[in-house]
Amino acid sequence: MSPWSWFLLPTLCLLPASAAPRRGAPASADCELQPQQSELNSFLWTIKRDPPSYFFGTIHVPYTRVWDFIPDNSKEAFQQSSIVYFELDLTDPYTISALTSCQMLPQGENLQDVLPRDIYCRLKRHLEYVKLMMPSWMTPDQRGKGLYADYLFNAIAGNWERKRPIWVMLMVNSLTEVDIKSRGVPVLDLYLAQEAERLRKQTGAVEKVEEQCHPLNGLNFSQVLFALNQTLLQQESLRAGSLQIPYTTEDLIKHYKCGDLSSVIFSHDSSQVPNFINSTLPPQERVTAQEIDSYFRQELIYKRNERMGKRVKALLEEFPDKGFFFAFGAGESQVTSDGTLGSDAPPTGGNAEVGPW
Ligand SMILES: *[C@@H]1O[C@H](CO)[C@@H](O)[C@H](O)[C@H]1NC(C)=O
Ligand SMILES: *[C@@H]1O[C@H](CO)[C@@H](O)[C@H](O)[C@H]1NC(C)=O
Ligand SMILES: *[C@@H]1O[C@H](CO)[C@@H](O)[C@H](O)[C@H]1NC(C)=O
Repeated sequence: MSPWSWFLLPTLCLLPASAAPRRGAPASADCELQPQQSELNSFLWTIKRDPPSYFFGTIHVPYTRVWDFIPDNSKEAFQQSSIVYFELDLTDPYTISALTSCQMLPQGENLQDVLPRDIYCRLKRHLEYVKLMMPSWMTPDQRGKGLYADYLFNAIAGNWERKRPIWVMLMVNSLTEVDIKSRGVPVLDLYLAQEAERLRKQTGAVEKVEEQCHPLNGLNFSQVLFALNQTLLQQESLRAGSLQIPYTTEDLIKHYKCGDLSSVIFSHDSSQVPNFINSTLPPQERVTAQEIDSYFRQELIYKRNERMGKRVKALLEEFPDKGFFFAFGAGESQVTSDGTLGSDAPPTGGNAEVGPW
């Protein structure tokens, strides 16, 4: 694998700086100033058995941004566990190629043939703008690591004309200045996967690529067009300077550092899809936005939790004497404050213990 090949991770693994409304209290800066071990919040849950097993909530942000704020007990739990499970095995080249092909239009189709002319032209114009801006968005640190704007643009958007519109929408969402600045360091879940490999732990995944990808491909055409149109409108206002994205990756990092579950859980930022519900939308469009939102909640949160919960339970039952470490997205797995994976799917029959450790 080339050093930058993880950039080719499909958009599913990127964090769109979406327009999701702020949820919960604003992050307090205090927990950034006092990284005392005893005061750190934890995204670790212990499953009481011998040896113990753990759930750990990860996020898709560069691990260097949050690593120092992850308490030692979580790192020790990872070290001690002999088996580490992820949602998907991101170190497996098959996973990456399957995700990539799942995002493609059927053979012979092109976005230009699929999209209305107006949307296609706005999309093309926007991507030309991003390409032009990219060198100025990159940090000296990124350039120092040999990361070039052309390379990065091509890695993220190179094949855009062949992608399904829903994936182009997610891609556009991740092509913002803030998100570009955070490229070049593995995201936390990928970093853990690389560490698990380096430490020769047994690894596995509870989901199949198709299970993550197909639900997104299941929105109908008018819904997808709506989503893409809204995304472009938002980016166009950003470009014109008339809009500030209200909820950014930076906020998510702050909430994670502060262990502020209510803000991380269930946020669209962590389930990777933007929220289009916008109070200024005309009524009919608001209905469409609501429909898209409930579709995603159903497919990407509820159904998925249930599926993942069942698999976790089966693994724990099949290997009662093994210590597992399950590293799942804090948002996707919808870890609730009582330590279960969502009310629908207590992964261990409800005996997962909440921190503090
Ligand atoms: C797409 O789905 C929505 C909601 O289920 C429905 O109202 C609409 O008619 C569908 N549109 C098409 C083109 O199938
Ligand atoms: C895009 O959205 C705007 C505002 O909601 C609407 O006026 C316009 O007709 C939409 N364009 C397309 C092609 O759907
Ligand atoms: C809400 O929707 C309107 C109309 O589509 C758009 O002009 C505005 O920028 C949107 N606001 C946000 C925060 O996305």
